Amino acid sequence: MKKIILTAIIANFLLCINSQTLRSPNKNLILNFELNDSGQPTYKLNYKGNEVIRTSKLGLELKKNSSLLENFEITDSVFSKFDETWKPVWGEVKEISNEHNELLVVLKQKKTERIMKIRFRLFNDGLGFRYEFEKQANLNYFEVADEHTQFALTGNHKTFWIPGDYDTNEYCYSTTLLSEIDASKVDGSGIGTHGFFSKNAVQSPLLLKTDKGLYISIFEAALINYSAMQLLVDCKNYVLTSSLVPDAFGTKAYMQTPHNTPWRTIIVSDKATDILASKTILNLNEPCKIANTDFIKPQKYIGIWWGMHVPDKWTWSYGEDPNIKLATTNWDLLKPSGRHGATNENVKYYIDFAAKHGFSGILVEGWNVGWEDWIGNWKEDVFDFTTPYPDFDIQNLNLYAQSKGVKLIMHHETSASVTNYERHIDKAIELMKKHGYDALKTGYVGWIIPRGEHHDGQWMVNHYNRVAEKMAQNKIMLDAHEPVRPTGQHRTYPNWMACEAARGNEFNAWSAGNKPEHETILPFTRLMGGPMDYTPGIFEIKMDYYQKGNKNQVHTTLAKQLALYVTMYSPLQMAADLPENYEKHLDAFQFIKDVAVDWDDTKYIEAEPGDYLTIARKAKNSDNWFVGAITDENARKAIIPMQFLDEKCWYVATIYADATDANWESNPMKYVIKQFLVSNKSILTQQLAPGGGCAISIKKATKAEIKGLRKA
Ligand code: NOJ
Ligand code: CA
Repeated sequence: MKKIILTAIIANFLLCINSQTLRSPNKNLILNFELNDSGQPTYKLNYKGNEVIRTSKLGLELKKNSSLLENFEITDSVFSKFDETWKPVWGEVKEISNEHNELLVVLKQKKTERIMKIRFRLFNDGLGFRYEFEKQANLNYFEVADEHTQFALTGNHKTFWIPGDYDTNEYCYSTTLLSEIDASKVDGSGIGTHGFFSKNAVQSPLLLKTDKGLYISIFEAALINYSAMQLLVDCKNYVLTSSLVPDAFGTKAYMQTPHNTPWRTIIVSDKATDILASKTILNLNEPCKIANTDFIKPQKYIGIWWGMHVPDKWTWSYGEDPNIKLATTNWDLLKPSGRHGATNENVKYYIDFAAKHGFSGILVEGWNVGWEDWIGNWKEDVFDFTTPYPDFDIQNLNLYAQSKGVKLIMHHETSASVTNYERHIDKAIELMKKHGYDALKTGYVGWIIPRGEHHDGQWMVNHYNRVAEKMAQNKIMLDAHEPVRPTGQHRTYPNWMACEAARGNEFNAWSAGNKPEHETILPFTRLMGGPMDYTPGIFEIKMDYYQKGNKNQVHTTLAKQLALYVTMYSPLQMAADLPENYEKHLDAFQFIKDVAVDWDDTKYIEAEPGDYLTIARKAKNSDNWFVGAITDENARKAIIPMQFLDEKCWYVATIYADATDANWESNPMKYVIKQFLVSNKSILTQQLAPGGGCAISIKKATKAEIKGLRKA
């Protein structure tokens, strides 16, 4: 890996200086740090000469000791520069530049003699800063009552938000002015464990747009041994203040020095596409800690899964009697319902389908005992993660899969009984190793046990990180559902390939679903922290197909489902629909078979959060490009200049588009497939239906194709 590190350290020992200024390498961003009259640290941020963050206070309120809010003096300021290029194990691009200027401010609280450092890193597209506490006599163990980091905004910006909530991020986004935020008005139905705690709280990542057209993303990076940061909104003064997720005692974080908080991040640009391209969150995480990453394989998978989400098809549980709510291996008591999804027969059919169509993995949910009463009872012992149902022959199914060159993906639904999961995890891994599993999906549906802990609190944050580390040690890839949202830790543990941690496609099967704009907002919010296992690729759009009269549906056209493989980045992508639904549309299915999941390069062509998004990506170690263009409920013309192509070549573009009369609601499944010759001079204009999209695969043309095909 090519690595250039420039370090210039200028220490400033002048104690009388109460303020410092730091510029980004391209000089677009300027950070000012200052201690105010009460000795409280403050900062402000300018972008291209305009204020983005007004003077905002920094500090922590402690539970037992006096707080770390004011009475500070600066004892040292250290400036440095950093510039390196690193290669992610997988990603949207093959190389990432990490260039930033740094300011470390060392503060001493005069009365208590405690030291608090604040480290600022200013990148060309944003700021990261964190609090650091070294080992010291007067600050050893401490409990955080709350962190009071402010983000004072300059006006009543347009805001893309979901309600503050300690246990879920599976909401639809609301788009309002800052002054109009009211979390109590948001509908949380369909979400198992939701509870808003303040009408003025929202979650991060938060996206804002000023009326001058500036995009601002507020988030955090490297959430380790700390609680997730939510934001309290002062709707009158446009000030956001951090608020951490508490435990049962109301404590927000338990600290022992040396200890650093996660990075607080502000990414800024006058172009929406720059927000999507930002690598600041990743750059603020530690480099890869896995010595040999060969076992990590970006891949597409199918699964015994959608059949349990659509009405009237399969169940996770084996037993038929809904009154028998107990986890048991007394099969006579349970009696098979005939609707169990994870049977030998079904799994074999999926293995054959995966092998035939080039999918590496087959997720099997509902393979293990416990699903009869997995939810709703806040019960300690539900799953043991090792006992298969009698109609799932774990040994022979794995052997059969391996004989066909594919692998089963393990599923550990914990039902949020996390202590129970931790008790069983070593045995569960042993079972995986024995049968050759190398990928795992976890799940945390329900209220957390230990009772009183929250999904996004410090205890659970530590659990998710422990599981990722443990799986890395065991060479297992991980996909977590219902965890805290990711904060770029896949740089450090690239075996942690994806998370759900937002409202996925599944909501379309059994709830009011996801509005057509949903997928145009997620890349600007949730995906800022890492890939999402959104489970795209649903072809049979309306649930009425499974159950007459059922009004639920996927809120996109079929073509948009294809485009999501490009716009919703993940190295782990599911072809989520049932194989029989793909068999009916093998021509469209071809795009899912062809599309890559790991990339050399990515071009963000056009984007507006809440409205539309067009992305082109070059497949890893290949000349093939893939384009995805999506829109919200409004039809639009996507204009796609093909400048990214090699100027010396002709390519064949296969375009999977909405039919002219397609519409997400009235005619979602109608698509057309066209082929043209294109070059880097071509500009494709493609009509997208309301709730629609378009997917394009682009391959170098053969001589025969150059002769025979029409130019775009
Ligand atoms: C919710 C997950 O998001 C979904 O993918 C899974 O099928 C169910 N929980 C059951 O674990
Ligand atoms: Ca979920």
